[in-house]
Amino acid sequence: MAFTPTAADKFTFGLWTVGWQARDPFGDATRGALDPVRSVNELASRGAYGVTFHDDDLIPFGSDESTRQEHIDRFKKALSETGMKVPMATTNLFTHPIFKDGALTANEPEIRRFAISKVMRNIDLAAELGAEIYVCWGGREGAESDAAKDGYVALERYREGFNILGQYVIDKGYNIKFAIEPKPNEPRGDIFLPTIGHALAFINSLEHPEMVGVNPEVGHEQMANLNFVHGIAQALFHKKLFHIDLNGQHGPKFDQDLVFGHGDLKSAFFLVDLLERYNYQGPKHFDYKPGRTEDDRGVWVSATSNMQTYLALRERARAFRADPRVQAAIKDSRIDQLEQPTLKTGETWKDLVSVNVDVDGLAARGYQYETIDQLAIEHLMGVGK
Ligand code: GCO
Ligand code: MN
Ligand code: MN
Repeated sequence: MAFTPTAADKFTFGLWTVGWQARDPFGDATRGALDPVRSVNELASRGAYGVTFHDDDLIPFGSDESTRQEHIDRFKKALSETGMKVPMATTNLFTHPIFKDGALTANEPEIRRFAISKVMRNIDLAAELGAEIYVCWGGREGAESDAAKDGYVALERYREGFNILGQYVIDKGYNIKFAIEPKPNEPRGDIFLPTIGHALAFINSLEHPEMVGVNPEVGHEQMANLNFVHGIAQALFHKKLFHIDLNGQHGPKFDQDLVFGHGDLKSAFFLVDLLERYNYQGPKHFDYKPGRTEDDRGVWVSATSNMQTYLALRERARAFRADPRVQAAIKDSRIDQLEQPTLKTGETWKDLVSVNVDVDGLAARGYQYETIDQLAIEHLMGVGK
């Protein structure tokens, strides 16, 4: 079935996703470099809403001022010709060897100072292009040995970095918020702020917690063997889901960055169901890597697949929710009763001091979750009524 993405779907792609040349630790690139202008055009023609970028995706590290401006001008021209937006930008603080031991948490202050100046420079460009979210993925912020880095002090420096950057955005008057992207490992043996929960707790320690949320990635939580749907529910609960990286992953192993839905499909189904039910309004950003086996044609097929899979899952999730059998199963399983507060109006703990319920009767009740779970699977497979 073919679905048509619209601007309202807010599908976005990093330039580094379709542009990945498929270099891995064991092998050379299998594809040539992709001109960002071509990526903008190809993605626009496939129904994407926008693109995102690291500074170095657009402007090679170390470019002089006039070369930098040429890259920016060409990119802006492509954006205005296609109507593509740039809702998010980010900084590459992981490729250059200067960042081999981290950027905001590098041991040497000179490296941290350089990293912050690199971020501030790209924040200026992000603001100029209208981006309202600035993602911070600390890929090199971590260690292979606990002897190498004091994890407590590293968080102090991480916090200092975010406080400096927050003040920069305030003083410049930019309409930008930060989104921390957790990841448990890779490229570092262990990365600081490894999961959504760690990032949420860290945000509360900042000078301006209201300016900072999270950018969770499907595969990253699954690498930690965590339930991504629960993680997203918690980010929504705290009003911190500023952005999301959609992709696919098969459980705890290296970061696969597969096409959205090409890993744990059932989790992807319930993820789309959750995002739609809670009316997530931010960009749906695909942070995936087209397979190393693919040529140029495969790159664009995979780009389209991300959007098609999201739209198909949305259609399936709606059919699931609209099915009277599902609505009956929700009642039968008492799933809707979770919405009832535990205390009735006007009650306090005093009303719970002595609670008389039918302990044996309640203990004996089955929840019938097997029924609703199978209905979900049938709708997911397209064989629901
Ligand atoms: C990963 C990460 C990265 C970041 C991106 C933004 O797959 O490890 O998702 O792709 O999202 O680099 O900085
Ligand atoms: Mn990833
Ligand atoms: Mn990501």
